[in-house]
Amino acid sequence: MEIRQIAADERTDTMFPLQTYAFMPSPWADAERETYAKRMVFYRTVTSLIAEEDGQTLAGVAAFPMRQNVRGVVHDMAGVASVSSHPAARRRGLVRQLMGRLMLQMRDQGCAVSALYPFRPSFYGKLGYVGVPRVRTATFAPEGLSHLLKADLPGEVDRLHLSEGFDEYDALTLRQLEERHGFSVYDETRTAEFRESPSLWVAIARVDGEVVGAVTYRIDQYGGDLVAGDLLTTGALGRALLLQFFARHTDQVARIVLKIGTDEVPELWGTDFAVLTEGRVELPRRGAPMVRLLAIDALNGLHAGAEAAVTVEVVDDELIGGRYRITGDAGRLAVEATKDEPQATLTCAGISALAYGVLDPVEVVTRGFGRVEAPAVEALGVLFPQQMPYLFADF
Ligand SMILES: CC(C)(COP(=O)(O)OP(=O)(O)OC[C@H]1O[C@@H](n2cnc3c(N)ncnc32)[C@H](O)[C@@H]1OP(=O)(O)O)[C@@H](O)C(=O)NCCC(=O)NCCS
Repeated sequence: MEIRQIAADERTDTMFPLQTYAFMPSPWADAERETYAKRMVFYRTVTSLIAEEDGQTLAGVAAFPMRQNVRGVVHDMAGVASVSSHPAARRRGLVRQLMGRLMLQMRDQGCAVSALYPFRPSFYGKLGYVGVPRVRTATFAPEGLSHLLKADLPGEVDRLHLSEGFDEYDALTLRQLEERHGFSVYDETRTAEFRESPSLWVAIARVDGEVVGAVTYRIDQYGGDLVAGDLLTTGALGRALLLQFFARHTDQVARIVLKIGTDEVPELWGTDFAVLTEGRVELPRRGAPMVRLLAIDALNGLHAGAEAAVTVEVVDDELIGGRYRITGDAGRLAVEATKDEPQATLTCAGISALAYGVLDPVEVVTRGFGRVEAPAVEALGVLFPQQMPYLFADF
């Protein structure tokens, strides 16, 4: 068996049959192969690795070059996708080997962090990844927000085809990348594919010409659902403008179905407001995303808690294993290698969970991601206060 990196235009003959068999209804028609081949222009910057034996492709993995905000610092991120193996070649360790090579290569290419959507989290847990929140949906009747129709808000909302509003929408996602913990975006090559999405509207909220919110959506039928993408806003006014826009769809659609982060509390959007807020995780199709650090340097500069210091040993990981002194100073973290005795022993999943703000140090221990001496529990809690990330990108 040999592992080989392939170019985008080789994916159609090698990875397409594996991916399509694994993830799509099949058998597939020739037209699907052609559609896939055409899309590969948007995959030119993807790192794709395959495992081959006697000229046959047995397994493949890939990483999109992306960027992600981790506690205020924007890192290059490897967005892992296209993971599949031939049924006859499964359980031979091929994907484990491919993933090992991919993570190493992406780290060497400058990616400090990585994220993916798992078919089964425990599979990627063995590779150092840890879960972060899945996007929520809020489902409500537009008339529930009718009080907003009376509000005189200092701004306006434009409805455009996504192709027309794409530049403004994209600019808002780049602003969210700078401002929102966990937020991640594709590079320009891959992003260009979304510009061509023909069948979505985008509602853009502006105040004095400045974009303060945007949401993509489609309407499935008269009297049916308005199905919206992620609610992207720079603050309360952007949110109010977009919700007011949804309220204007009373008697046109029965329900609005909107994607939101864990920090949104829809029951506070109105009085007498009936809403269902759901975070549905189902396997293998709707896993909550997972993340990991690919380089320990990713901790440097993170906006974190007050002054504290702790020595940790990261174990069982080729990429970030070692002993480190982590200090917080004026709200920023710094990390350096040390030979001191550790006060906490953490797996990659454990330190990643702390870095991303998803688990408290006690939960890191109870989840089996390490051991922490009593005084270090408090120090780690101060250095890594909980803060839920919002991933945004779906891949
Ligand atoms: C999931 C899939 C990619 C695994 O590939 P594979 O080459 O069989 O995986 P490996 O042999 O490298 O297995 C690595 C480890 O995961 C375990 N594993 C493999 N498949 C697993 C599964 N379905 N559930 C739980 N563990 C699994 C293996 O036992 C092995 O454990 P070990 O490291 O302790 O020995 C393959 O089964 C597949 O293509 N499935 C359909 C598509 C899919 O779900 N892709 C994943 C998208 S996120």
